[in-house]
Amino acid sequence: METTTKPNIGSYDERVKGSPWALAEEELGYKPGSDINIAWYCTDRICNMGKAAKTAFIWEGMGGAEKRYTFNDLRLASNTFAAFLQGLGIKREERVCLFLDRIPELYLGFLGVLKAGAVAQPLFSAFGDESLLVRLENAQTTAVITQRKHVGKVRKLREKLPCLKYIIVVDDDGKKPLQEREVAFSLEQAKPVEDFKCADTKAESPSLLHYTSGTTGMPKGAQHVHYSLISQYLTAKWVLDLHDDDIYWCTADPGWVTGTSYGIIGPWSLGVTSCVLDVGFTSESWYQFIQKRRVTVWYSAPTAIRALMKAGDEAVKKHDLSSLRHLASVGEPLNSEAVTWSERVFGLPFHDSYWQTETGSIMISNYPGLKIKPGSMGKPFPGITATLLDLQTFEPFTEAGKIGLIAVKPGWPAMMRSYWNNEEVYKKKFRNGWYLTGDRATRDMDGYYWFVGRDDDIINTAGHLVSPFEVESALLEHPAVAESAVVSKPDEINMEVVKAFVTVKPGFIGNDDLTLEIMNFIRKKLSPLAMPQEIEYTPLLPKTRSGKIMRRVLKAKEWGQEIGDTSTLEND
Ligand code: WT7
Repeated sequence: METTTKPNIGSYDERVKGSPWALAEEELGYKPGSDINIAWYCTDRICNMGKAAKTAFIWEGMGGAEKRYTFNDLRLASNTFAAFLQGLGIKREERVCLFLDRIPELYLGFLGVLKAGAVAQPLFSAFGDESLLVRLENAQTTAVITQRKHVGKVRKLREKLPCLKYIIVVDDDGKKPLQEREVAFSLEQAKPVEDFKCADTKAESPSLLHYTSGTTGMPKGAQHVHYSLISQYLTAKWVLDLHDDDIYWCTADPGWVTGTSYGIIGPWSLGVTSCVLDVGFTSESWYQFIQKRRVTVWYSAPTAIRALMKAGDEAVKKHDLSSLRHLASVGEPLNSEAVTWSERVFGLPFHDSYWQTETGSIMISNYPGLKIKPGSMGKPFPGITATLLDLQTFEPFTEAGKIGLIAVKPGWPAMMRSYWNNEEVYKKKFRNGWYLTGDRATRDMDGYYWFVGRDDDIINTAGHLVSPFEVESALLEHPAVAESAVVSKPDEINMEVVKAFVTVKPGFIGNDDLTLEIMNFIRKKLSPLAMPQEIEYTPLLPKTRSGKIMRRVLKAKEWGQEIGDTSTLEND
């Protein structure tokens, strides 16, 4: 398990002195002002570099089903998808949603949307109709690419979505007739398009919309551009340390930003083989996958690591995991125990990395070759100027150990360019010339960052952000709910889960039956992640004098903390 591979980053301390973005541009052969299309870089360019026959993508589904694609296959499939979309009349910069399980069409379709010059909008396939509706409405999405099992959810929303011209079904079997403006497209049956003129997008052309939860208000679409490639390529190279002979596994779903930035763009722009497992999580299925695919680099999340820890050391020992060379993690605080555990059982530590949907690429991280302090997120990526801002004044400070807001100097390539249709909220993300992440941390004498918590009420469950506001809004639509407050509650595996405090309307009784009914209601409307794991009925909710519900009081109770200063809240 000892690795002899030389880290791509070389020396972190040397790299922070250089101009990394210029270096990435040079390596990619990109000249400012010229065309840049992420999908072209991930396919055609790699083929042009003599890797057309190299395996790009190994997909595994239920029961060991397998599909393999070379870089030339990726090139052809994305051409074919793009030509089909253009044939339908999809125009440049129109939003095309990918509402798919982790099937190959999700990955190939994503590249096809980009090659057509449209904006890819991946949405998690477990989203319920309400979650789907607000995101498709906000983005004024033109087409949704989906599969038979999900088409009903989209169909139901049609009347509310005047901009939606097409529903594209990738696995239609002809058994049930499609309805008006629904079209079937089968990659396997379509004639491969050998020559396709990839959209001549430029650095600032929009590429991608990823929706993320807000503290108040509806989800916001972080809008990215093709130039993000520069950051994603270099961070995948230096943080994930991807080498030409690696077999890389990113466990994230492309419905979330990790699954696109590092499940698609990072590895393929580097011409690296990437594999995907489209079956539910069990420690056994994951270890078997690593063993069978000879995974070398593994990018995962603390929730999964904690679940693996719980499954025990014996489960690890039953498998040959000696192919593993480099491990990294993202999405939530990575406990120091998880780092020491992985060192013990895999002979390799997990390298924590910190970033967000909005940042598009890794901001703060641990690097191969740099000392890991277990429990710390590490140091800013070369080319990223990060700091901590005083909680009150928003002024940067350097004191070690003091809690501040994590902030980043704008201007890195993968930074979001706006929130779609929501410039106002976007502007609020900046203060004194800094981009505010909304997270709190401390920094030590050596410049390592230590995550403290979020600066808002957003719930991070299993690495996914859930807005209390969105859940509260959905709860209000249930006939029994008069009022509600949604907060996080600690959870051993998922770090946090959703808990709802509910006051019921007259004539309703808060009992187990109602709890089950409400849970199901939210699961179907929003998603399994947003579903409250616990509902507590209460005749009254703590409120400010102006009538605003004090989530903070309820949250403190859940976490066994002091309630703290509520005087400010009372004047809210
Ligand atoms: C939020 C971003 C892009 C990663 C996937 C999630 C939390 C992320 C860490 C970490 C502690 C972390 C933050 C951040 N977070 N990484 N290493 N340690 N917290 O993207 O859904 O936009 O969530 O996840 O709170 O703001 P996201």
